Amino acid sequence: MTLKNILIKVHRYLAICISPIFLIILVSGLVLSFKPILAPEVGGHTESTQLPVLKKLIEIQKTDTEISGVEFSLDGQLVYLTDKAGNSSVVNMKTGETFGDVNMKATTYQWFKSLHKKLLLDLGDVVEWVTYICLIIMIFGFLLMQKPRLSKKILSIHNTGAWILMPFLLMLPITAIMMNLKIGAPKFDLVFADADSYSVTEVIDLLEKNPELGQLKSISSIRGKYQQVELSKNNITQSYKINVDREWIAIDQPIFIPKILHEGTWSNGSLSGWVNLIIAIMFIVLTLTGVYSWGRRVYKNKQRHEIHQAEVLVAYASQTGTGEKLAKLTANILSQHISTDTAPLSALNSEKISKFKRILLIVSTTGDGDLPQQAKSFVQKLPSLELGGIEFAVLALGDRHYKNFCQAGIKINEMLLVQNASPLLDIYLVDGDVTLPWQNWMDCLAKKLGIILNSIESSEIDKETQLQLVARKLISNTAGDAKEVWQLDLISTAKEPF
Ligand SMILES: Cc1cc2nc3c(=O)[nH]c(=O)nc-3n(C[C@H](O)[C@H](O)[C@H](O)COP(=O)(O)O)c2cc1C
Repeated sequence: MTLKNILIKVHRYLAICISPIFLIILVSGLVLSFKPILAPEVGGHTESTQLPVLKKLIEIQKTDTEISGVEFSLDGQLVYLTDKAGNSSVVNMKTGETFGDVNMKATTYQWFKSLHKKLLLDLGDVVEWVTYICLIIMIFGFLLMQKPRLSKKILSIHNTGAWILMPFLLMLPITAIMMNLKIGAPKFDLVFADADSYSVTEVIDLLEKNPELGQLKSISSIRGKYQQVELSKNNITQSYKINVDREWIAIDQPIFIPKILHEGTWSNGSLSGWVNLIIAIMFIVLTLTGVYSWGRRVYKNKQRHEIHQAEVLVAYASQTGTGEKLAKLTANILSQHISTDTAPLSALNSEKISKFKRILLIVSTTGDGDLPQQAKSFVQKLPSLELGGIEFAVLALGDRHYKNFCQAGIKINEMLLVQNASPLLDIYLVDGDVTLPWQNWMDCLAKKLGIILNSIESSEIDKETQLQLVARKLISNTAGDAKEVWQLDLISTAKEPF
């Protein structure tokens, strides 16, 4: 197994294992990212003369749990009060009118927060492990990444999305891990070592006695223990702690960058919330597209394939579809002369294979000389199959640009010989375009099978088709080359046979 295969397997199976929990974390994170988007714009202050009014409002508002946070709207007209349980309400400073919960329903928000951080069940460690695994999956995915090729395939959406958004995607698990390990976290305990915890009304009392310090912008509690007060003086904001002796000590605003990035609160407006929302959606899309394309492949491989008794079986192992379409076309043409059935190699076992005297195998090579998924189980079963008396012919699809040209077809051909199957034809190696080699192969087969293909059948694949020139580019080095070489981009107006 090559290193690339190991990376793919680890990337795929780790992702599949954690995807249910990961989706819970992602969806709850997505809901949480609405907070900065829906949050009202705060950052105003109140005049010192308004402090007694504020105290009165807080006393009226006092919920069962004490108020722990105070903020003002930009014009200072509204005050946002948050209690220790995280419920918040907004009060008009002039009229005393209360508007109830702000943002989302606070309880719902807390529920999603608990789901996001500990799966509602105190399972913070599981969330932590899933975050580490997510980072491993992303790093492996990053190592596997190829320049994306846009197509309608689900896997292409997966690859292209990851390719474009990788730096943003990496931000979420990395910042989550930094938050867990407290990397870059401000040393709150040092900053607040000599601080005491005051109630919000006590803080306002103290501020009333020291009006020269500035106007109140916000009061917030740090880790539920200490108060941090933001005051504004001459349009400059300064944070303070209050020590045990009731002295105001200016402190630097503690900033925890990983937390700000992870929670999407780095911009005052809603921009950072939108960024986090888009990243969360992209993560969900990547998880779902990855799991879906894996599930679909497993389903396709496991799909029970009814195989009917016939003279010839056209079996295929194809990764991107060429071999499968070619096998069906081959079976279609042969069935007009002899009874023929078609099946993926993954559907064959000793009982099914014994129904046939002749098996034609169309096998493409993928990866780095690897077997297509559809051939893997067949190759595992091959050594136990009794194939004496069965005739076979292998059409191996490949491309000489790859180091291990047609390796999968060659391997299967050799294994069939070892199992005593008799070659109807020598293996046919196809380099790139399949049209001509396939026609030659069909002609040789027809001779061996004693049938005459009419020219329409054998040229089915070579039908005339209308092509339209959409772009052209000179690609030869005009200085050195005697002849010009042009790249022509053509689109077909008719449906191709494959
Ligand atoms: C990702 C990829 C890897 C491939 N690796 C090989 C290879 O190692 N050796 C080879 O001969 N051809 C290789 N090919 C070429 C295919 O075998 C060839 O295009 C074939 O016609 C594809 O058939 P399919 O559509 O049935 O899978 C590779 C093609 C792709 C897209």
